[in-house]
Amino acid sequence: MTEINIEKLMLEAKSASELSYSPYSHFTVGAALLCSDGEIVTAANVENRSYGLTICAERSAIVKAISMGKRDFKALAIYCGRADYPVSPCGACRQVISEFAENAMPLYFSGSDISNRVETTIGELFPFDALDEMKDGKYE
Ligand code: THU
Repeated sequence: MTEINIEKLMLEAKSASELSYSPYSHFTVGAALLCSDGEIVTAANVENRSYGLTICAERSAIVKAISMGKRDFKALAIYCGRADYPVSPCGACRQVISEFAENAMPLYFSGSDISNRVETTIGELFPFDALDEMKDGKYE
C-alpha cells in the first residue's frame, strides 16, 4: 500500500484553491482527492448568485473523479485560503464523500496554514452511515 503524502496532498488542495470561483464569500477552497491508482484529482468551490447552488470544492472533486472513471479513493485534503482555522466539510459534502469512501478513509483539512490541520476520517465526520454498514456486508 502506497504511503499517503499528506503534505503533498495539502499543497495540491492549496493550488486548486487558486482556481476557486467565490465572488460572494471570498472563501477560496480547494480539494485534492488521492485515488487508489495514485492519481490526485483536484477541484475548487464554484459559487452562484443563487447562493444555495454553490458547489463545494470537495464535492466537485468527488464528482470529477467519478466522471473520470475512478471509484476508489485513499484520502482527501481540503484547503481554505481565507480562514485562520481548519475549515471542515459541510454536512452535504460529508454525505457525498461517504457514498464512495470507506469509513477509515483519511481526511485532512486546514485554513490558510496547512500545518494547522485536522487529520480525521470520513467515518468520524459522518458516523453511523447506513451505506457503510451495507458495504460491510452486514445486511446481505
Ligand atoms: N466551502 C467548500 O468548498 N468546502 C468546505 O469544506 C467549506 C465551504 C465553500 C462553499 C462556499 O463557496 C464557501 O466555501 C463558503 O461557505
